[in-house]
Amino acid sequence: MSWFGNFENEQGFFESLCYKVIKMGQMPKHVAVIMDGNRRYAKKENISRKEGHTAGFDKLAQVLYWCHELDIPEVTCYAFSIENFKRSKQEVDTLINIFNDKLAQLMKEKDRLMKYGVCIRFVGDISLFDLKIKKSVADVVEMTKSNNKCFLNIAMAYTSRDEIAQAVREVCKGVKDGLIKESDITESLLESCFYTNHCKPVDVLIRTSGEVRLSDFLLWQTSFSMLCFIDAYWPDLSLWHFIYCILKFQIGFDSLQNAKELSELKESRSQLDSDLQNAFIELKQNMNSDVENQELLQAVAKEYSKKRIVRQTLFLNRLEEKRKEQLVEWFKGEA
Ligand code: FPP
Ligand code: MG
Repeated sequence: MSWFGNFENEQGFFESLCYKVIKMGQMPKHVAVIMDGNRRYAKKENISRKEGHTAGFDKLAQVLYWCHELDIPEVTCYAFSIENFKRSKQEVDTLINIFNDKLAQLMKEKDRLMKYGVCIRFVGDISLFDLKIKKSVADVVEMTKSNNKCFLNIAMAYTSRDEIAQAVREVCKGVKDGLIKESDITESLLESCFYTNHCKPVDVLIRTSGEVRLSDFLLWQTSFSMLCFIDAYWPDLSLWHFIYCILKFQIGFDSLQNAKELSELKESRSQLDSDLQNAFIELKQNMNSDVENQELLQAVAKEYSKKRIVRQTLFLNRLEEKRKEQLVEWFKGEA
């Protein structure tokens, strides 16, 4: 099945009415999916595991269509976790073959990708794959990087704990290289080092197959998301399941929003406190006797905060450059 072929489908009257009604409420801007239950679906339908995963891909294409019709601009899918490398060689090879086929197909769908303005990004440690996948990833990213109407983030060789650990390694290196100070490490700096740094906040997370856990997917990013656990295998997910998740998001929207705003407020307050404290230390170190002068302290804190932002920005720009250089190497077909 094509990735975006569905986008040109004609809708039935009832389906179209449902889209209109649901769009009258607050709509999520970013939906993440854990596509679980492909193998159990295969067993139930008496088909091979490969056919089960292929049916899983077809469902992903259908979910992208629903999101397109519902004006949901961003989708993140959990296609392959680092843990999945531990499955049998035969199954890992089957999945990798599906990725190779589907990524090659994406390149052939260039016209549609451009027509609908789809930007495709990959989140995860892509270096764990072979060169063929790395090259396909770089080709797809390069081809779609200027599109900005809708975003598909494919999580491959991803786990949240690995993402957090690599972000911590990056900030430690930044401190060691003298780009940032230890006190510059904040929640938002760490978040900016994630593979998902360009993604919008996740509004809804859907997991199929009846399992009620996150399996190391977007653990940090879903603190203020509506979590929906659906008792159906991924290929059996229906439009009604999907609409149920959106309704759940609409009902819970205000309380999620309040919790998110409160947390943002807390972080900006703690940033202010930290800048003030560092300004105080600077004044003392400079032997300034007037450390009790509040006006002076505020002025120094303001200056300190400007310099901190410059350090953090430079550090993040370097990280972005490093990641781009990596992609260019893969694009050229280098390991
Ligand atoms: C989980 O079901 C599914 C996966 C590990 C693979 C998901 C991948 C796809 C649907 C293909 C997507 C392709 C691209 C290119 C994005 P499971 O294997 O854990 O099944 P089970 O829970 O029944 O054992
Ligand atoms: Mg599973």
